[in-house]
Amino acid sequence: MPLTRKAYRAAILHSIADPAEVGIEASYEYFEDGLLVVENGRISALGHASELLPGLPAGVQVEHYPDALITPGFIDTHIHLPQTGMVGAYGEQLLDWLNTYTFPCESQFADPDHANEVADIFIKELLRNGTTTALVFGSVHPQSVNAFFAAAEKLDLRMIAGKVMMDRNAPDYLTDTAESGYQESKVLIERWHGKGRLHYAVTPRFAPTSTPEQLTLAGQLLTEYPDLYMQTHISENLQEIQWVKELFPERKGYLDVYDHYQLLGERSVFAHGVHLCDDECARLAETGSAVAFCPTSNFFLGSGLFNLPMAEKHKLNVGLGTDVGGGTSFSLLQTLNEAYKVMQLQGARLSPFKSLYLATLGGARALRLEHKIGTLHPGTDADFLVLDYHATPLLSYRLKQANSIAETLFVLMTLGDDRTVLQTFAAGQQVHQR
Ligand code: GUN
Ligand code: ZN
Repeated sequence: MPLTRKAYRAAILHSIADPAEVGIEASYEYFEDGLLVVENGRISALGHASELLPGLPAGVQVEHYPDALITPGFIDTHIHLPQTGMVGAYGEQLLDWLNTYTFPCESQFADPDHANEVADIFIKELLRNGTTTALVFGSVHPQSVNAFFAAAEKLDLRMIAGKVMMDRNAPDYLTDTAESGYQESKVLIERWHGKGRLHYAVTPRFAPTSTPEQLTLAGQLLTEYPDLYMQTHISENLQEIQWVKELFPERKGYLDVYDHYQLLGERSVFAHGVHLCDDECARLAETGSAVAFCPTSNFFLGSGLFNLPMAEKHKLNVGLGTDVGGGTSFSLLQTLNEAYKVMQLQGARLSPFKSLYLATLGGARALRLEHKIGTLHPGTDADFLVLDYHATPLLSYRLKQANSIAETLFVLMTLGDDRTVLQTFAAGQQVHQR
């Protein structure tokens, strides 16, 4: 293959560490007039334009963006493909919302044509919003995952997904069995896991919708294949937690159910965790598990306020999730806008650099992919964004008053959304242009 090399000149910012661990100033690198060099889908150099430009071989094309910010692609650690058609469903909290809106909408994925159509819409929407990697729930139907991975593969995206396993407490038209869920997952793993930049996640929906037999087989899959992910929901809603207590009276609590079936580990991501207790955070951290913080969903479904400071105290890996369709936006910028308010309501702060961390490197760490994505370090995948300072008249005017990159970043996260994302690149290729 011929060498492809291209350079991008703009203000460039990336997170290089967790501000909770190293302090804000040591957590990021910012180049006011920076240069990002991309070679064959990977980043080959990052630095000040004035230092790198003279050494750039003749003929390398330089794209210049005088009024934009380059950042790593965003990482959404929790989202549902088959809920794309029901975002913004009125009136219910989690359990009624699932029965009233979610399950009927997901049932449409029995039709492969529908699955293909929504997979295309969904991936376009991710890229329009600057999300280059997502950890995705399919529906119970294997074709939901086939459709998603086929569409992601065409664009060489780094994506993780799995078919939902759900063998009880859901309508008959939407359940598998312990055995069929295991076998169907296995077929998908053999077909997709490790293909290009795709990874498979074993996906028991949540404890109430899986029998002990199914949870056992989910754990077994994790031991049969290396580097598989596991994704599920935990402690999102008080009624849900009460239900888990009734279904598993022999277990100490919600997390202990998953622990018992050996579903905790370095590639396990638990969505929400709004009502986790101190001991549960400690156990998650001890096992290297991660939590997906989903603020727009937690507000929309009235679930509660995620305790980020408690997670930080335990050095628990936390990523950011939109949780569409419980969440109301594909935009991780809008998700950060709500995350800020979650902290405000608890008398805490969310610095813009911690926010950047959550949307990029924090997500990559939650997924154990920080050597591949989440920063702009040379050697990593060239998954990056061009964010437009003039995306809207208000943003443009407001940013004229900004005196620092911290302020610019915070305003981008407060006023920004899909319109802010001018271009999205994945593996060095442009996959979205506004
Ligand atoms: N818990 C179990 N299933 C779901 C779901 O689809 N969305 C959310 N937000 N929580 C869940
Ligand atoms: Zn969810």
